[in-house]
Amino acid sequence: MQLFLDSAKPNEIREAANLGVISGVTTNPSLVAKEKVDYKERIMEICQIVSGPVSVEVLSQEAEGMVTEAKEFATWASNVIVKVPMIEEGLRALKSLRQLKIRTNVTLVFSLNQALLAAIAGADYVSPFVGRLDDVGHDGMQLVAEIVNAYKTYNMSTQVIAASIRHPLHVVQAVHAGAHIATIPFGVLEGMLHHPLTDLGVQRFLDDWHRAIGEQERKNDV
Ligand code: G3P
Repeated sequence: MQLFLDSAKPNEIREAANLGVISGVTTNPSLVAKEKVDYKERIMEICQIVSGPVSVEVLSQEAEGMVTEAKEFATWASNVIVKVPMIEEGLRALKSLRQLKIRTNVTLVFSLNQALLAAIAGADYVSPFVGRLDDVGHDGMQLVAEIVNAYKTYNMSTQVIAASIRHPLHVVQAVHAGAHIATIPFGVLEGMLHHPLTDLGVQRFLDDWHRAIGEQERKNDV
């Protein structure tokens, strides 16, 4: 199980990378747009912070345009993964991208059928959007489990990224579902890290230690 950071913020990515727990980064147009910076510059900055895969999404809606964008992205850094939406034109683009040996992440996956098509078309990663399915009353993590299971049954090498992760419990569920990767916002990473009983335990150990040292010093003074 690997963790990717779902973020376009260099400070967050740097902080998570320094913790040594993230293997890659996923971005999307919404995340980069919020930053109000140049797309290329920001992606190149991110690709220098992490050596693992960095997903960058195409904006074109036509296969030809997607391939043109993908070729350009691939010149930005060697760890770029091109994110292609799970639409008809996206599938068409996948075929060419496979021939060009450009690695892909098929995004906005909401059904097992879509995940099957993406894998058959040669996607390196698929991203089922868990939170957005939950939002409309479907069990997003159930879909992740179904995809993982189908890929195992048919020996498909496409990796499943549990995406649209909203809280630490989603990460636990992604582990149970057998997702290869969960891509998580920085806030979820913080939520995974902290536990009040850990903080309390650390404080108690320190208090006990200082109390014992204080008693020893008092005895020595007598
Ligand atoms: O990984 C995809 C993610 O960025 C979408 O998350 O919370 O907008 O559904 P969300």
